[in-house]
Amino acid sequence: SAQKILVVGGAGYVGSAACAWLLDQGHDVWVLDDLSTGHRELVLTENFVKARAGDRKIVLPLLKSHAFDGVMHFAAKSLVEESVQKPELYWENNVEQTQALIEMMIEAGVKRLVFSSTCAIFGDPKSAKIDENLPKNPINPYGKTKLEVEKLLETAVTRGLQSIALRYFNAAGAEPKLRAGEWHVKETHLIPRTLKASALGSRVEIFGHDYSTPDGTCVRDYIHVSDLAAAHGAAMNKLQNLEKDKGFFGAYNLGSENGYSVRQVVDAVEKVIGKKISRADMPRRAGDPPVLVSNSEKAKRELAFKPKHDLNSIVQTAWDWEQKLKKGIRRAVFLDRDETINED
Ligand code: UFG
Repeated sequence: SAQKILVVGGAGYVGSAACAWLLDQGHDVWVLDDLSTGHRELVLTENFVKARAGDRKIVLPLLKSHAFDGVMHFAAKSLVEESVQKPELYWENNVEQTQALIEMMIEAGVKRLVFSSTCAIFGDPKSAKIDENLPKNPINPYGKTKLEVEKLLETAVTRGLQSIALRYFNAAGAEPKLRAGEWHVKETHLIPRTLKASALGSRVEIFGHDYSTPDGTCVRDYIHVSDLAAAHGAAMNKLQNLEKDKGFFGAYNLGSENGYSVRQVVDAVEKVIGKKISRADMPRRAGDPPVLVSNSEKAKRELAFKPKHDLNSIVQTAWDWEQKLKKGIRRAVFLDRDETINED
């Protein structure tokens, strides 16, 4: 049945893809976003509130006045390198704002939360496939902030919070109907950077070619953003089915379980766009673990997680999205009704 969901960070990359998915399922979708890295054009509902996740003046009354079935929380700063340079910014934004959100949810009696976590909480586990039971040793401030929030969620079980942390591997691709896709002012991710390099006729930089991996470049597990969106829906459904007022915390690793090297990804892009892309071998990028590939058996078992998109489909949709971005996106929703401006 239809649910009323507050999507915090719904103007961002994964958050907007989740909104597209929720809307397709007929749910009542509300978006809260401060637009610090998200885009108003990616807000797919007219129910939009502009504020930070932990803003008491705005978020508490919002939670109290709507009977939300649950909250999905995507709002975070998520660049590993930037987190090394500005750890305090990451802590305040990712941990403190989320802590405030959790407090307000409990206060308002909204007790279901699906949280965006990351494989970065594992650090460099040196394991062929990463399952949920491996030790969590983040090697950068970004990963530390996400692990800290997972701990807050676990602690809040005794206060009746029902939450699930979804640990994404490398989110990639665009929503197939092109309502949502990757749009970062400062683009650091491999697939969009490779697409841009090809469009500009410049070389794609390959950060590190002497790792102990088959071709010397880093291996990652790319998972389509709409497959992640569907997993959020499944996680929320699982929370809806729990006994009321009984606290819960669960965590799932979400990936394709396939590893691709940086060179293999560039090869895949060449195949999709039908053009050679020249490459430049560069030094390693700080904070990059050599191999991160998921074991997602638990999500398959308990959330019926079943990725539909392979690497080719990821690259194809990302390419289609780049064409759309180039033409310019018009704001998806023109109504400014319900929009609140944060006075802080
Ligand atoms: N890479 C290049 N050239 C580029 C961009 C990236 O060689 O122009 C390499 C990176 O060094 C890395 C791989 O491609 O080896 C993937 O890099 P991305 O930046 O696309 O993704 P990351 O694996 O660094 O980061 C992602 C998310 C983070 C998350 C992390 C978990 O963006 O939020 O996965 O490891 F924390």
